[in-house]
Amino acid sequence: MGKIKVQPNRYAIVTGASKGLGYAYCEELLKIGYNIIGVARDCSSLKQLEEKYPNLKIEAWNMDMSIFENNQKLFDKAKEFDVEIVINNAGYGVWGYFQDSSLESEMNMVDLNIKSLHALTKLFVQEFQRKGYGRVLNVGSMASFTPAPVFASYYASKAYVWSLGVAVNTELKKTKSKVRVITLCPGPLKTDFWNRSSDQKDAKYKSTVKVMKTSVYARKSLKSGLKTKKKNFIITGATNKFVKKLTSFAPQSIVLSSVYNYQRKRK
Ligand SMILES: NC(=O)c1ccc[n+]([C@@H]2O[C@H](COP(=O)([O-])OP(=O)(O)OC[C@H]3O[C@@H](n4cnc5c(N)ncnc54)[C@H](OP(=O)(O)O)[C@@H]3O)[C@@H](O)[C@H]2O)c1
Repeated sequence: MGKIKVQPNRYAIVTGASKGLGYAYCEELLKIGYNIIGVARDCSSLKQLEEKYPNLKIEAWNMDMSIFENNQKLFDKAKEFDVEIVINNAGYGVWGYFQDSSLESEMNMVDLNIKSLHALTKLFVQEFQRKGYGRVLNVGSMASFTPAPVFASYYASKAYVWSLGVAVNTELKKTKSKVRVITLCPGPLKTDFWNRSSDQKDAKYKSTVKVMKTSVYARKSLKSGLKTKKKNFIITGATNKFVKKLTSFAPQSIVLSSVYNYQRKRK
């Protein structure tokens, strides 16, 4: 992966490491020489990576990060390791009309997408400031940039991720810190995300925009996220960059109608 220099024995923590984008981030980090602490409710899939990368260390921690106390527990346990990178990736969505969607699922989503990410960002920024190095990469989304009828709470949670990250990273740059909090903004990827968010076992994935391969997105966004000194957030791929431009310049009523039409056809 180019010029990123990894010190021996450094670790990267990845939440939501068991599948999808988190698993792909673990593999990309291993390829460039990081040891991994993978976190998910069921990390058994990480065994495959242990076999593939026998010279690196892989810790697999089964933890439900929507339980708030687990954030402090994860942080305390991680103090035994020289952690340099934290990727706050665990997350899901609750699709549907707001009047029909489950309040319980949405509150659990807030606990994971917002509260866990917020707590881990703070704890590790403080720790990285003490050490003088380290980087938090928060997984936002292209959903960070507009409200979304029929997927309202998920998009709102990703707007929080983006807003928090951009503000904190600006503080860090203005105070000449070496620590960074970079927000990664993927567009649609073919993962289990869509099954969980629409509450279906085998949701048919539909997208009107070109979908990037998850491993390709992981490699490219990780490279940019680890390298950048000035950027607050990373948009990867020409289609996503074009969509971002469109949502910035088009009248909001047109953006909202387009997102409504895109999201209501999901199920
Ligand atoms: N897929 C997309 O199109 C897309 C687009 C933009 C952004 N994103 C974002 O990318 C991130 C990864 O999503 P994905 O697409 O890779 O989805 P995914 O395939 O469903 O993976 C989600 C990961 O999060 C873990 N997880 C779920 N609930 C958890 C909890 N309570 N505590 C700890 N870990 C938990 C899952 O493992 P367990 O089930 O074992 O806990 C799994 O490893 C999310 O933040 C998502 O919002 C996805």
